[in-house]
Amino acid sequence: MFIIFEGPDGSGQSTQAKLLKKYLEEEKKLAVVLTKEPINKPPLGNLIRRILKKEISVQPLTLQLLFCADRNEHLNTVIKPALKKRGWIISDRYFYSTIAYGSLDLNIDPSTPLRVNPEFNRRIEWLIKINELFLRPDIVFLLRVRPEIYLEKIDKNRGKRQFFEKQQKLEKVLKTYEILSRQFSNIQMIDGEKNIQEVHQKIIKKLNL
Ligand SMILES: Nc1ncnc2c1ncn2[C@@H]1O[C@H](COP(=O)(O)OP(=O)(O)OP(=O)(O)O)[C@@H](O)[C@H]1O
Ligand SMILES: [Mg+2]
Repeated sequence: MFIIFEGPDGSGQSTQAKLLKKYLEEEKKLAVVLTKEPINKPPLGNLIRRILKKEISVQPLTLQLLFCADRNEHLNTVIKPALKKRGWIISDRYFYSTIAYGSLDLNIDPSTPLRVNPEFNRRIEWLIKINELFLRPDIVFLLRVRPEIYLEKIDKNRGKRQFFEKQQKLEKVLKTYEILSRQFSNIQMIDGEKNIQEVHQKIIKKLNL
């Protein structure tokens, strides 16, 4: 199986991906490869990491195109070979992240809902299109955590403005993920606000092994 974890920043994807790998290996005796985007390999993975750390700057859409290029490497050098050996693959993020984060640069009037905004819809359609040929995962666990919950965890000393900007950004990301969950039937929405073990149990239940 090809399993993905998605969600806004800090929603617990890495935590749950590791827990699921451990469970599948120890309880179900399966061979599991845990991987993540961006791939941990030069030149693209390293370039993306430097952009995310703000060491270098590119246009927001350029970053998304780099993520797509990195995904093609990831899919063909890591994911497909593992699936071919009948292994299980868990990836921490995949093309749903490109779609969820890829419209943040649009200057959208907050008074109209995102889902009826033509500019937003055009962008989403395009992002879906450029990811269309990539292998569809069997299941996507979308960890739903409201930004206010996430923001309680981050360092509030970083200033009110940054705090507000981050909240707005994460609200848009979460809304876009919610819109996607209605378009992709392989997305399973999981309440990520429960404690780590409760979230883990819900995921195992959904897998129904
Ligand atoms: N269900 C949970 N309840 C409370 N805290 C949690 C929960 N899941 C994870 N955490 C904690 O939240 C923090 C972020 O978790 P994690 O690194 O798994 O998130 P992430 O989604 O991978 O983040 P990023 O998007 O930055 O990669 C960690 O300190 C983790 O221990
Ligand atoms: Mg993570």
